[in-house]
Amino acid sequence: MSEKQVLMSSPDYFKVEYSINPWMVAGVTVDLDLAKDQWNNLKSTIEKAGAEVKVVPPSEEYPDLVFTANSGIINDKNVLIANFKYEERRGEEDLYMNWFSNNGYSVGRIPSEFKFEGRGDAFVYGEYLVGSYGIRSDKEALLFIAEEFQLEPIIVELAQEKFYHLDTCFQQFPTGDAIFYPEAFKDQSLSAFESLFNLIPVTEHDANQLACNAVVINNTVIFPSKDIEAIKTVEGLGLNAEVANVSEFLKSGGACQCLVIALN
Ligand code: ARG
Repeated sequence: MSEKQVLMSSPDYFKVEYSINPWMVAGVTVDLDLAKDQWNNLKSTIEKAGAEVKVVPPSEEYPDLVFTANSGIINDKNVLIANFKYEERRGEEDLYMNWFSNNGYSVGRIPSEFKFEGRGDAFVYGEYLVGSYGIRSDKEALLFIAEEFQLEPIIVELAQEKFYHLDTCFQQFPTGDAIFYPEAFKDQSLSAFESLFNLIPVTEHDANQLACNAVVINNTVIFPSKDIEAIKTVEGLGLNAEVANVSEFLKSGGACQCLVIALN
């Protein structure tokens, strides 16, 4: 199989100028040099784990473009682009459409009345569409995607504004295990996911460090902070745990997984 590829976008214009989730304080100071160092460190950690990183050019108008996870949902060479919930991010859709069509993808859209925020809320898992709705993405969008890609939808409802995307409170590993924060879900036992994953709960402490927003590249799991109890859990599963501190991006409510989308 060809090398794994992921898409990122450099933080040249990253800032927190509006607030669309409880982590964001509009106008809070972001140390841009530190953000750039953290982003470069995440990028090189991903490369060391065995993935090639492609980069979408940054845009001065869209500070949240760094969170490429939200660009859309990818199935082979097909992508369905996000319909962002908030006006502040809607302009990113055209930038992502251009990038994907210039890079050999067949680009589609979801009906505009259905909100959908990409890998933030859904991913393709074998013959299933695993997803969440209720805060940023609509259930109808997930059902539309499942139909379009001919996947069986396995979807759950989120319960808290603080954990507004699936990738803020759930991550799965190549071992078949997955970590999740029970309180983030309407059904705290996450029974809909039980047949697909061996579910391991994380503590509130870990959830608040966005531990579930770790990036998985082959057998490496990259966590956003070293102060995470689930690091031990993941090592116990035989996986390699790395840390890439992304504290500046946490000010925007995003950590490692939010800054990346897997292209294959
Ligand atoms: N500030 C961004 C927003 O609220 C952060 C997005 C994080 N992305 C993610 N996949 N969870 O939209």
